[in-house]
Amino acid sequence: MTASIRQPIITIVGHVDHGKTTLLDSLRGSSIAKKEAGAITQKIYFTLFPLETINKRCPIINKKGIKLDIPGLLFIDTPGHAAFTNLRKRGGSLADLAILVIDINEGIMPQTSEAIQILKENKTPFIVALNKIDNIGGWKKRNEDIMKNINMQSINTKSEFDEKLYKIISALQFHKLDADLFYNITDYTKKIAICPISAKTNEGIPELLMTLCGLCQKFLKKQLELGEKAKGVILEIKKEKTMNYAEAILYDGSLEEGEKIAVASFDKPVITKIRAIEEIIPLQDKFKPVKKTTASTGIRLQLLNTENILAGMPFQIFSGNLEEIEKEFSSHLNKIETDKQGIIAKAESLGSLEALFFLLKQSGISILKAGIGNITKSDIVSAKSSEKNNPLDAVIVGFNVSVEEDALELAKEVKIITDEVIYKIIENLEKFRKEKKNEIERLKLMELAALCKLQILNQYVFRNSNPAIFGVKILAGKIKQNISLIDENDNEIARIKEIQHDKKSVQEAFAGEEVAISLPGINFDRQLKDINYLYSDLSEAQFKKFKENKNLLSQEEIRVLQEIANLKRKKKITWGV
Ligand code: GTP
Ligand code: MG
Repeated sequence: MTASIRQPIITIVGHVDHGKTTLLDSLRGSSIAKKEAGAITQKIYFTLFPLETINKRCPIINKKGIKLDIPGLLFIDTPGHAAFTNLRKRGGSLADLAILVIDINEGIMPQTSEAIQILKENKTPFIVALNKIDNIGGWKKRNEDIMKNINMQSINTKSEFDEKLYKIISALQFHKLDADLFYNITDYTKKIAICPISAKTNEGIPELLMTLCGLCQKFLKKQLELGEKAKGVILEIKKEKTMNYAEAILYDGSLEEGEKIAVASFDKPVITKIRAIEEIIPLQDKFKPVKKTTASTGIRLQLLNTENILAGMPFQIFSGNLEEIEKEFSSHLNKIETDKQGIIAKAESLGSLEALFFLLKQSGISILKAGIGNITKSDIVSAKSSEKNNPLDAVIVGFNVSVEEDALELAKEVKIITDEVIYKIIENLEKFRKEKKNEIERLKLMELAALCKLQILNQYVFRNSNPAIFGVKILAGKIKQNISLIDENDNEIARIKEIQHDKKSVQEAFAGEEVAISLPGINFDRQLKDINYLYSDLSEAQFKKFKENKNLLSQEEIRVLQEIANLKRKKKITWGV
C-alpha cells in the first residue's frame, strides 16, 4: 500500500498591505461558503483548499491532463507579521512552501527582506507573487493567459512592467536569490519562480496555482507522506468563558478525541487530554466539531489543562513514551542558549523568539535571558542589574509583546525596545547601544578634566573678595568644584571653591546654566572687572586627549577647545601641537 499524501502547508508572507489576504480571497474565488450554524469564527487564517477547487480555479491543470496526487492545499495567512515566525517546527519551517507576496509597485520592503531572511534560514522553498500588476499605468487585461496578457500591453505599460520587474529581480539577487518569470524557468530547483498577478482582477491566479501545485508534485512528495504519529504546533491559547482552547496546526498523523498529547515547554512536557476537537471547514474561516482529524489541517483543541502551554510550542501524541518525547523536544529548545551577560529578549511565541534570537546573534549581541510572553517586573529587575556590569546590556527587547500592566512604573527605569518588526528592534537596539557608548566615553573624558567657557555676569557680584563671589553663565562645557580657571590672556585666576545654583550648593554645573561661583584669593574689582570670559585651564596633555576624542564633543565645546589653544599659543607657539 502506498502512503497517503497530506495537504502541503503553504504560508503566505510579505510586507504589510502587499495583498496577502486579498490573494487568499482571490484563490478561494466565489466558493466562500455561507455561514454555518454553530461554527466559530477564527482569528488565524488557515484555509483548507480541496482538490476540486484547485481544478476549478485552475482549468489548465485538467486541460494539460495533469493528475494531482495531493488532496488539496492548506494555506496559512499571516495576519500582521509576527504570526509568521510562530510557524516553526523542529528542524525548520512548518510551511512546506511559501508564497512571498510583493507589490510590484513598491518592491522589496523591510518586512519582505525579513521574510526572505527567515525563509532562507528555514530553507523553505517559495515562489514570488508579484501582486497589483493592475496598478501599473495603462494596464488592461488583454488575455486570459498571463504571458500573452503581459506581452499584449501597450509599449509604455510593458516597459514600466519590465522596469519594475527587473528592479525586483536585482533586489532579490542582492539577497543571493536567483529569480525569473515562471514561464522563463526550465529548472525550478535552480531558480525562484515569479508569478505576476493581480489579486483584485484575478489575472495570473491560475498560473500561480499551477506553479504551486507543480512544485508540490515534483519536489515535496516524499515530505508529504502522512506519518503515523500525530504532530503539530500550537498557534494560540484562547480563553472562552471557562474553557481553554488551543488553536493549532496538525502537520502529521491523525488525532482523536480522548487521546493525550504532550506539549513542549521550557520545563517538562505538559501532558494533557483532548476533550474535544474542532476542524477548519474547507474554504471557510469556521470550525466544526469532529471526532477525528488528519493532517494537514487547522484545528481547535479543547484541552483539560492549558497551564504552561505557550504559543509556538510543538506537540505530539502521547502514548507513554515520555523519554523519547523529552529528547525530541529538548533538541528543539536547545537553539535558545543564553550567555552569562547580555540583554533581555522577549517574544510572543517560541518561533518568534527563535527568529529574534537568530537575528540578535547575527548582529553579535549577547543575550542574558530569553523568554516567551510580555515584559514582566522580573525582566526589568534583571536588566537593571546588568547596568552595573555593562550599561550597554541594560536593555529589554520585545518582539510583538508589551509591558505588563503592573510593571509599567518600573519600566521607566530601563531602556525597552519593542516592535512588530524584528528589523526595527535590531536597528533601534544598535542605535541605543551606540549612543550609550558615546555617552559613557564622553563621561569618562569629562572626568579627566573640565572643559568650559564662562561669561562673567558683572551685574551679579555678591562679594568682592575673601572669597570673591559672582555670577557666571556657562557658555559651553561644564564646571565642577576645584577646577582651575584662566582669563582671556591666559593669566591664572583661581580654583573654583564653591558653586551655587538656585541658592543651593552643587558639585557641578552645565552649559546654559547661570550659577554663582566663589574664588578664594581674588579681588573682583581689581582682577576681573574688565574681563568678559573665563576658561578652564588645560594642560597640553589634557588638550590632546580632548582633541583625540573630538567626536564626543559638541560643536560649542570644540570651538572652546580651539579658543583655549589660541590663547595658550600667544605665550608658547608650540602649545599642544
Ligand atoms: P496585512 O494583512 O495588513 O499585512 O496586509 P495584506 O498583505 O493582507 O494586504 P491586503 O490583502 O489586506 O491588501 C491591502 C490593500 O491592497 C487592500 O486595500 C486591497 O484591496 C489592495 N490590493 C490587494 N491586492 C491588490 C491588487 O492586486 N490590485 C490592487 N489594485 N489592489 C490590491
Ligand atoms: Mg492580511
